[in-house]
Amino acid sequence: MYFIGVDIGGMSVKAGLVDEKGNILLKDTAVTRARASAEEIVADIAALVKKVVEAGGIHLSELGGIGVGSPGSVDDAAGVIRYSCNINFERTPIVALLGDALGVKNVKVSNDANCAALGETMFGAGRGAKNSVTVTLGTGVGTGIVVDGRLLTGNRSAGAEGGHVIIKAGGEKCGCGKRGCFEAYASATALMSRTARAVERHPESLLAQVAKERGIDGKTAFIAAKQGDKTAKRVVNDYIRYVGIGLVGFANVFYPEVFIIGGGISKEGDALILPLKEFVKKNAYGAEFNPPIDVVAATLGNDAGIIGAAALAM
Ligand code: BGC
Repeated sequence: MYFIGVDIGGMSVKAGLVDEKGNILLKDTAVTRARASAEEIVADIAALVKKVVEAGGIHLSELGGIGVGSPGSVDDAAGVIRYSCNINFERTPIVALLGDALGVKNVKVSNDANCAALGETMFGAGRGAKNSVTVTLGTGVGTGIVVDGRLLTGNRSAGAEGGHVIIKAGGEKCGCGKRGCFEAYASATALMSRTARAVERHPESLLAQVAKERGIDGKTAFIAAKQGDKTAKRVVNDYIRYVGIGLVGFANVFYPEVFIIGGGISKEGDALILPLKEFVKKNAYGAEFNPPIDVVAATLGNDAGIIGAAALAM
């Protein structure tokens, strides 16, 4: 039996054909028209799903179901995306819209980070852990919290929004309109604006040269830092420290066995993961007396969202 997993991101929508074991057989992406109407975005998603199903040589009626992961507050039970700060969804009944457009009955939706956590728990780095916190570092910052083997999502699945925990009163402006959110410091977007500011302040740096050659994205500062550039190292160290501060906060509340770091920035691997592990070890309350907390990169990488979304429909 095959399933479709859809991962809606701020920049692109990914859809994959997934089997029951969590293997992606094929996948495709489309640009997210984040400011288009919700109906237009859903129509784009339906077209992408059709394309993937056709490329897989099967018919929509043969699908076991479709699962969708979306940023924002999602009413899982009602199949409605209530609100998303990075995409134009407001009380969008995505399950009904997508189900009607494609003639598929089994359509499910949940928050994208919850999907990533589900994917990692079932098929990736979270297997065997009863308590884990998945943190996705992308356009936004999402968290999927597993406590005693169950996803913790709060009243009508409106919670687990770790990206909007305030880590600095009156701090940087967040995409949600508030100030000082974890996301405003730990997202790829935040890293990019810090990189841009550092380039402006230090036009003589290697960072500025790398930025000129390849543009600024979430990798730029890591690339220049690896080559020993001081300015880039400062940007990267500050960034990692902020991510660490967020993790320590989550550690003190949930005390997971493992933090699973996903999203685009997790591709940095050890350059990100090792210092984070050290930071959590040093700063989590009572860490020298309590069980160790591991920090690992998502094994499913950026596919965790697709696989976890598909798992919603399994
Ligand atoms: C949203 C979350 C989402 C995260 C990652 C945040 O801005 O509030 O719901 O999980 O971005 O996409």
